[in-house]
Amino acid sequence: MIAQGVHLVNAFANQRIHVKWCCDIMQDNLDYVVNNYSPEQITKDYKDVLNDSEVDGVMILTTHDIRLKIITEAANAGKHIYVEKPMSTTPEESYKIMKVIRKTGVKLVVGFNRRCAPAIEDAVAIYEKQRANPVDAPWRYNRLGGEHTPLREEEATMIMMRINDDLKSFKAYAMDEMIGEGSLIGELCHFADLACFILKKEPIKVYAEGWSRINQVLTLQFEDLSVVNIFETAVGSFDHPKELIEIYHKGVSVVVDHFLQLRVGGREDIYKKNYPFLSDPYPNITEGEGTNLYINKVRERNRVVTNECDFGFPSVNKGHYKMLDRFVDCILVGAESPCNELDGARATLITLKARESIRKGLPIKISSDEYDYYFAF
Ligand SMILES: NC(=O)c1ccc[n+]([C@@H]2O[C@H](COP(=O)([O-])OP(=O)(O)OC[C@H]3O[C@@H](n4cnc5c(N)ncnc54)[C@H](O)[C@@H]3O)[C@@H](O)[C@H]2O)c1
Repeated sequence: MIAQGVHLVNAFANQRIHVKWCCDIMQDNLDYVVNNYSPEQITKDYKDVLNDSEVDGVMILTTHDIRLKIITEAANAGKHIYVEKPMSTTPEESYKIMKVIRKTGVKLVVGFNRRCAPAIEDAVAIYEKQRANPVDAPWRYNRLGGEHTPLREEEATMIMMRINDDLKSFKAYAMDEMIGEGSLIGELCHFADLACFILKKEPIKVYAEGWSRINQVLTLQFEDLSVVNIFETAVGSFDHPKELIEIYHKGVSVVVDHFLQLRVGGREDIYKKNYPFLSDPYPNITEGEGTNLYINKVRERNRVVTNECDFGFPSVNKGHYKMLDRFVDCILVGAESPCNELDGARATLITLKARESIRKGLPIKISSDEYDYYFAF
């Protein structure tokens, strides 16, 4: 699904990528790529790809239950790796993946693509600017007085993330405890990673309520007293946008509304910015901006679907193309991975600890030595 919907389009569109092989164990999927793209070769055996000395990098887009084996063999064959999220689903898998990546020296990029979404990049830049040089807007209250005794928690960042998913949009295996492992492990890793990426601080504790399969609320505490709240529901409706991310720090609020609109409070230099749709089957619907425009387009989509046939949602830029392009930079110019094996292991551990918290009904401590391993080579 993610290959056909996103990565094949992006890889074939990227002038710096030559897609030599497409691999899948299912003939229907190989037929799809042959009919829609022009890979030089197709195969049902991924070893054919790894044995090809012309191949510089591979994208591993399978379900996560079979990643470790393919990553290990790809790294040992000297291939750089882009792997879809989650990178791993146990600490043991994380350990083995990190070890083989460090030992072979290949680059690994975990597909936490939201790091590269234009609206997120802008939000992080504004947040970091405020953190480096906190400036009060001239209209901010100052009843504490200019020289007030500082509060420790004034240094913190508060973040809220809302994910409005729909259970009926998940494939059945995503809810299977032994394959997809539910939305907590399979999906919330995106947001656990995003929290770490925004803050650049270590998480120290997680408390979660809800269920592992769907419907979770996570409260993550970081080493600098920052708190991140991640709210996921799968019992709402896609009539409304999926993701809202709000960052608060030192008198500034930065809001990313479904990657379509950035709203900033507390700064003089920026107030609002709109982002274009990635694809828009409803260009005739123009009323509103940001997520209001989105909702109007989705209403039109629903009318078409109800009366005629299945038709797509307008899509937004979640950073997939840029993440892949940065993978190319890793290969061609030796750039740092935009999301490496340590980032992948950290996100996995956070979601595993959140699941433990849900099941025990207790807050769970997170220690960096549980994912930032030492390797005795
Ligand atoms: N980053 C994102 O936005 C995003 C979105 C959706 C899914 N994903 C992730 O992408 C991954 C794939 O999800 P999906 O929904 O596309 O799954 P999918 O089931 O549609 O696709 C997985 C494919 O892997 C193939 N496959 C399985 N074993 C193989 C093997 N040994 N060799 C070659 N091919 C093999 C399957 O035949 C299938 O075509 C999941 O881990 C999911 O979490 C990421």
